[in-house]
Amino acid sequence: MYLCAKINLPIPSIMSQKMRTLTEPFKIKMVEPLRITSEAYRQAALEKAGYNPFLLRSNDVFIDLLTDSGTGAMSDRQWAGIMMGDESYAGARSWEHLEAVVQNLTGMQYVLPTHQGRAAERILYSILGGKGKVFISNTHFDTTRANIEYVGSEAIDIVCKEACDVESYADFKGNIDLEKLESLVTQYGKDSIAAVIMTVTNNSSGGQPVSMQNMKAVRKICDQHGLLMVIDGCRIAENSYFVNQREEGFAHKSYQEIAREMLNLGDAFIMSAKKDGMVNIGGLLTLKDESLSVKCKNLLIISEGFTTYGGLSGRDMEALAIGLDEVFDKDYLHYRIRSTAYLGEKLKEKGIPVVWPIGGHAVYIDAKKLYANVPVDEYPGQALVIDLYLKGGIRCVEVGSVMFGKYNDQGKLVPAVNELVRMAIPRRVYTQSHIDYVLDIFDDILELKNRKKGFKITYEPPFLRHFTAHFQPVN
Ligand code: F0G
Repeated sequence: MYLCAKINLPIPSIMSQKMRTLTEPFKIKMVEPLRITSEAYRQAALEKAGYNPFLLRSNDVFIDLLTDSGTGAMSDRQWAGIMMGDESYAGARSWEHLEAVVQNLTGMQYVLPTHQGRAAERILYSILGGKGKVFISNTHFDTTRANIEYVGSEAIDIVCKEACDVESYADFKGNIDLEKLESLVTQYGKDSIAAVIMTVTNNSSGGQPVSMQNMKAVRKICDQHGLLMVIDGCRIAENSYFVNQREEGFAHKSYQEIAREMLNLGDAFIMSAKKDGMVNIGGLLTLKDESLSVKCKNLLIISEGFTTYGGLSGRDMEALAIGLDEVFDKDYLHYRIRSTAYLGEKLKEKGIPVVWPIGGHAVYIDAKKLYANVPVDEYPGQALVIDLYLKGGIRCVEVGSVMFGKYNDQGKLVPAVNELVRMAIPRRVYTQSHIDYVLDIFDDILELKNRKKGFKITYEPPFLRHFTAHFQPVN
């Protein structure tokens, strides 16, 4: 019926051949020019943007590693799907296609399309949350936390102990700490706990994977205490690759089978489709429970759109349905994970402290260690982000005290646990030579590592301050 099915011919895997250089398993059909600017130009652009990379113009960026969200390149199959999108208000063919793909992947019956992940979060967490409610997670992503705190609830992160040592190797540093989960359940009691949210892969904790064993243990605890388990799985395909490679008993299973097995453990699935959905916009909220789905649908209709398109056009849904199939292609996933690791491993060889092992979608640099002389309240991560832009036109994001810092009653910064910088890799966008260029720029960064001063914040909003805050260099 669908174009994707017609042209999906069996092709021998490049993984079965002897691999030397890691090659992109696609060729380029359309190009988008990049602009190379001077350091003086970039200095002026930074000043204009209040030293916040989110406020830079993309035209002034050479290599954009700000996010892997909505920045990927779609395939020819997806573009063909765009042309076939059914734009009917209700019951569109493209909706049926998407619904079937998502039901098959998640094992959940009720599928709600949203314009992106945070819209799904807002709908679900405003229904489950409220004052006095607690959400517990391996690590809440920043929009997840913001949506939870916005409705007066508390968000508690309990990532596993292995994650605290950013440089040591462990297979599944994205896991939740099961002992802490048990003790929080005892402390707060079933009625106060709105949900346990498993973020897969664990974005804010280095993009590290979560094991099937950990997920099954969480399911068991949730069953014992009657708790709801939500899977925030926008990078579920990448997580499945790691389970296949690292967890005993999964080497023979396909990435799709592993994803299905994991998602089936949840009561609800939230997905920002802008990641492993391989599209530029879109989100999903998927549920097992009918009565909860009815409440969610009522909110969906008020704020997103009718239940068979939510926040999306027919063509968006068609491209997403195809993307959710393509993302599990074994050559693609191998290239995806290995090419991210290539950047991280080469940085480590250069002596740059990176979160280890390298996660799925991004390389995280330990800025506190790299810029050891910059005090934490002068945001070493922000200093590194600025230096990378200045030296190489590379844009990335601080994941430290700018993003997660709080103030105490005296107005003093309570810093985040780590001061990281994330270099997120858009899907199917940059080639190895782009990444080699990024590696070259780090030679300049190493010359700056004795930097003593960082940045101060001159403006900040009450929520998600990293998006719009302004900074000034500390003199
Ligand atoms: N959950 C996780 C784990 C995410 O990484 C994101 C977005 C969201 C939810 C929200 O989804 O952006 O579609 O509303 N992460 C992006 C990032 C923004 O850069 O990591 P959204």
